[in-house]
Amino acid sequence: MKRTPMIAGNWKMNLTIAAGVELVKTIHYTHRHPGEVDVVVAPPFTALRAIADTLNDSYISVAAQNIHWETSGAFTGEISAVFAKDAGAEYVIIGHSERRQYFGETNETVNKKVKAAFLHGLTPIVCVGETDAEREAGRVHEVINTQVEQGLAGLTKGQFENLIVAYEPVWAIGTGKTATGQQAEEVHASIRELLVKLTGQEAAEKIRILYGGSVGAKNAKELLSFPNIDGALVGGASLKPQDFVEIIKSAGAL
Ligand code: PGA
Repeated sequence: MKRTPMIAGNWKMNLTIAAGVELVKTIHYTHRHPGEVDVVVAPPFTALRAIADTLNDSYISVAAQNIHWETSGAFTGEISAVFAKDAGAEYVIIGHSERRQYFGETNETVNKKVKAAFLHGLTPIVCVGETDAEREAGRVHEVINTQVEQGLAGLTKGQFENLIVAYEPVWAIGTGKTATGQQAEEVHASIRELLVKLTGQEAAEKIRILYGGSVGAKNAKELLSFPNIDGALVGGASLKPQDFVEIIKSAGAL
């Protein structure tokens, strides 16, 4: 089955409003029509509205980098799906390894956030990935399967069909160490097998599984050539317009 590739840029805690607006304008102007590829950028919350307004009528959509699972109330410092959507987001990254590592994100909170995203009309990009030590110990599949099963527990078939999974080996994030296409494809294929068990063949075939971890202009094309690698979640290289455009092009040329 043909899935439209997706290239998503995760800006993390980078770029002020002005710098972000300039970046997306550059991307938009240098690469006007990517063809069959969905392009998403995830700015910090403070820049969401400005970026969404700048990208109005463009082919690029906006994502939040996190949400809280409650809708509103006494949760000082938190942002719910309602507010992210109100600020112009259509997608939300959930369970990024930095959130798991530094902010106590668990498979259980990931699951609550995924449900909250769907409830309020955001499409979740759910991140999973093993650490170096887990890979060394031969635990890749066990770790990933648990993250997927628990993170996506209790979803409807319709929700499964619409969500996006991102496989991001923790040892490859921001390190310059990319998984080889073969290594990534092996995990992507096993995630899809598990998704078939969880929601059936038809829905599982529709789910896009992105790869993330030191994706750049040089390695994107090779990674994206594998059948179960349906796009990329890009950190560092998404801050460099030329590189990000090259990555978009390599997906469009599939
Ligand atoms: P990186 O980050 O591309 O800088 O490795 C990827 C991510 O964390 O999503």
